Amino acid sequence: MFKGKGPSGFGYGSSAEDVTNGLDLAGRTILLTGSNSGIGNETLRVLAKRGSHVIAAARTVQKAQAACDAVVGETTAVACELSEPASVRACAAEVIALGRPLDAIICNAGIMALPKLNQQHGYEAQFFTNHIGHFILVTSLLDSLADKGRVVVVSSSAHNNAPPEGIQFDNLSGDREYSPWANYGQSKLANVLFANELAKRLAGTGKTANSLHPGVIHTNLSRSMNPIARAALSIGAPLVLKSVGEGAATQCYLAVNPSVEGISGKYFADCNESRPSSHGRDEAMAAKLWEVSEQIAAEVTA
Ligand SMILES: NC(=O)c1ccc[n+]([C@@H]2O[C@H](COP(=O)([O-])OP(=O)(O)OC[C@H]3O[C@@H](n4cnc5c(N)ncnc54)[C@H](OP(=O)(O)O)[C@@H]3O)[C@@H](O)[C@H]2O)c1
Repeated sequence: MFKGKGPSGFGYGSSAEDVTNGLDLAGRTILLTGSNSGIGNETLRVLAKRGSHVIAAARTVQKAQAACDAVVGETTAVACELSEPASVRACAAEVIALGRPLDAIICNAGIMALPKLNQQHGYEAQFFTNHIGHFILVTSLLDSLADKGRVVVVSSSAHNNAPPEGIQFDNLSGDREYSPWANYGQSKLANVLFANELAKRLAGTGKTANSLHPGVIHTNLSRSMNPIARAALSIGAPLVLKSVGEGAATQCYLAVNPSVEGISGKYFADCNESRPSSHGRDEAMAAKLWEVSEQIAAEVTA
């Protein structure tokens, strides 16, 4: 693992505070999902501290409000249960009603490695929550994106663990086969492809979309892992994993750092451009995923 700094001047050990140091974000409005826990919670804290108005989404407004109450700065709590399209659309409507152009949308919320197949509206739950929920949210808010608005999609290096064929378009229910890690990988591959295809569609508008791997951080994300593996992770975390501040850095960098202006359709890790898997660079797969996601979004809303 390369722990030095890359061309951006930041690297593995840079924190969310580092990448926003000296920035005055007053007047900016940023929508963030998964604001009540882990790296999302740190993202909320740091962006609000730098002066941004953060619209903090969580599964319930109570969770979002508790997260907002714990930080200093201007925040608005909204409910957004990503596995329920009605909740996602209500969240989008609430954000639109605020009447403030969005300088960034950070698609951060996620679930990982559910031990058994879970389904939402007939689709495998990680794909539905991590990808379809964010797809509906972002596509409902495209008209609210500011002129240079940035969509930041939190993926993972685990997108490399997607099934050999990439997105299993003929098995999005998970009924034919299911593996906790391959299906998590598929959902994170969908995050990369979504950002890439969105970047293509936003080309020429000044608006951008990028995806990222935040690093490996001990958070509540491991809640579905077996207790022994979780305990080992917890003991080893300070030595081998990123801190929560370091984990939140790349998404904060992409959302607000001036050096990223105009950069779109890229995948980042450790606050520097990186290379996704070959599936993550597959334009045809990205285009097909967009088409299928639109169909699913329409179907689950009908
Ligand atoms: N931690 C890592 O090592 C790591 C590595 C690579 C990528 N990532 C990615 O980083 C992102 C943040 O993860 P984290 O590590 O900060 O995990 P975390 O502490 O578990 O936070 C995940 C957040 O997502 C929310 N969430 C889960 N399901 C949701 C749903 N159905 N609707 C709305 N919100 C939902 C959670 O809400 P509740 O608290 O209410 O469940 C929580 O706020 C995820 O996308 C993850 O895939 C993390």
